[in-house]
Amino acid sequence: MFEKLEEIDAVVKKCNKCGLCTNRTNTVFGVGNPNADIMFIGEGPGADEDAEGEPFVGKAGKLMNQALIGLGISREKIYIANIVKCRPPNNRTPLKEEANACLDYLRNQVMIIKPKIIVLLGNTALKNILGEEYGITSTRGRWIDKKGIKYMPTFHPAALLRDESKKIDFWKDLELVKNEADVQNFQI
Ligand code: URA
Ligand code: SF4
Repeated sequence: MFEKLEEIDAVVKKCNKCGLCTNRTNTVFGVGNPNADIMFIGEGPGADEDAEGEPFVGKAGKLMNQALIGLGISREKIYIANIVKCRPPNNRTPLKEEANACLDYLRNQVMIIKPKIIVLLGNTALKNILGEEYGITSTRGRWIDKKGIKYMPTFHPAALLRDESKKIDFWKDLELVKNEADVQNFQI
């Protein structure tokens, strides 16, 4: 058990528990408020994230930032992390064994941060956190309560880059998060 995010980060930086360690430039641990009420979970670092060591700084991240700004959610008040902390080659989906190897770190992050809401960005986050039986198209936009945390599955921002029509639903889903945060007085 870890007590501080920095302790987990230090272990992650040296981690070689899965094959993704061989191609990384930087590990991408997560960023934001260590006491965040709202946490966003993506899939894994892309090229820009691998270069900078920070999640969602590339094209998909910029799109997500625009939505956050538009909704009045501040990136500094939430916490953002990924299922895997090292970049999969050619941005492929992380393999099950890679996600499994990495998930303990994320679980520890969640235990320390204690978010009230977790936004699951895309299928990889959804399936690895809530279970393989879930699919983003049928699950997005609906709250799922589990062990005192409210989960909101929505599209991955990279999916919006490929299909503009998904932007409307993505916005609607994040609006639900913003409204819930307002009602509950959560930090946004
Ligand atoms: N896509 C992700 O899933 N995570 C990132 O950090 C960047 C792009
Ligand atoms: Fe370790 Fe996770 Fe990186 Fe794999 S992806 S080497 S488990 S930090």
